[in-house]
Amino acid sequence: MEDSRATSPSDGARAEAAGADLHLELSATRGRNDLVQALHESIRTGRLVAGTRLPSSRSLAKDLGIARNTVADAYGQLVAEGWLTARQGSGTVVANRAAVPTTPAAARPLEKTYRYDLRPGTPDVATFPRTEWLAATRKALTMAPNEAFGLGDPRGRPELRQVLADYLARARGVRADPERILICSGYVQALSLLGEIVKTLGGTTMAVEEFGYGLHRDVIRARGLSPVAVPVDSLGACTSELTGEGVLLTPAHQMPTGVPLAPERRTAAIEWARETGGVLIEDDYDGEFRYDRQAVGALQALDPERVVYTGTASKSLAPGLRLAWMVLPEHLVEPVVAAKRTSDYQTATIEQLVLAEFIASGHYDRHVRRSRLHYRRRRDRLVELLSVRAPNVQVAGISAGLHVLLDVPGDAEDMVARAARQGLALASLTTYHFNPTPATRQAVIVGYGTPPDHAYPGALDLLCQVLGV
Ligand SMILES: Cc1ncc(COP(=O)(O)O)c(C=O)c1O
Repeated sequence: MEDSRATSPSDGARAEAAGADLHLELSATRGRNDLVQALHESIRTGRLVAGTRLPSSRSLAKDLGIARNTVADAYGQLVAEGWLTARQGSGTVVANRAAVPTTPAAARPLEKTYRYDLRPGTPDVATFPRTEWLAATRKALTMAPNEAFGLGDPRGRPELRQVLADYLARARGVRADPERILICSGYVQALSLLGEIVKTLGGTTMAVEEFGYGLHRDVIRARGLSPVAVPVDSLGACTSELTGEGVLLTPAHQMPTGVPLAPERRTAAIEWARETGGVLIEDDYDGEFRYDRQAVGALQALDPERVVYTGTASKSLAPGLRLAWMVLPEHLVEPVVAAKRTSDYQTATIEQLVLAEFIASGHYDRHVRRSRLHYRRRRDRLVELLSVRAPNVQVAGISAGLHVLLDVPGDAEDMVARAARQGLALASLTTYHFNPTPATRQAVIVGYGTPPDHAYPGALDLLCQVLGV
């Protein structure tokens, strides 16, 4: 029934290791019928799916502490009944006809699917540099010291913290010391940990820009803090209205209105942090993507002891990597490390080593430069097309990032609903507002990162149809 070549000691060991690990509950008698019933039940309920290779009778007998013949007999009976198949050389496998028809979770969409998706938030993941990432993975795995596979410093791998310190200083003007960098699982975790710190310091609120990502407000609430809205105008967040014990800003590119924080407001934000001792968080989520000549560096450079700088690979590479980083003021290193330890101890080390290698070998810079050009072309195409086919729409926030804001005549929510009926997903500015009122600016946010190249023209055509009426 099982692989008859398993005769030499090493073959025997291999055969024992082959096949699936099984969880089977046998009654006290542990006889052949018990085993037949347990296997039958596992297959019938779908716990053992079609195609699963079972362990050899020798291996299963050893695991269960029963005679090998008992297992061989049970397998034989289930083969005869058609629940299992046995072929010379390929072992004993759960048969196809035995599979219980179940709908895999992935086949059940969590939300409506659209023909085209122009909602903001995601880069063009079709351009993920797979070949270079693979090369970096190979090299990182080959070079990784054994201790990298264990639990280590909760701040993350020193290799990554070092290259990030160099990169952030060079590309974003951040004053970064590798000792003060903490690698985390996405910006969401950074915000969660920092929320915990604000709470521990006795805080009850976190000031957020009135326009922002709803998920981040939820993260703040989940940490037991109340988000408080700070107005946003054409100069960015109104820093004269900062309150509470923590403040969250997107200074380089306000999300989603797209304005950079004006110089005098940058100074005011730092003053607020110095005077109150509050935690000032800088979310530099897409700082790599600026298309005009005006460089907008990190706020953190003005006072590294008062600003927590946060960055992420979610826009520059892919959100699925869940890799982000914080550069912390000295006094926050210890509490944030303690919070990270009790959250997930450390971010996956091998992925960190891969990113370190990817940056050190120059692939990251090349990918960012290529992507910047790619997105710039896409943005230009969008803006040109709108000027011809939807001249009644005002385009704003074009100088950076992966989305633009379209000020529309009429109700933006109606427009989003009309687009959805035609198979195009859009987002209105209202959905990013802390507390929308009828006076909220009527605008649609269009992300130009998501659709792969082949779908982009179709998506733009449909957008123009919806907006141009
Ligand atoms: C404003 C803002 N900050 C940060 C991020 C990155 O989040 P994460 O690193 O958790 O993917 C995003 C991603 O959409 C974002 O929109």
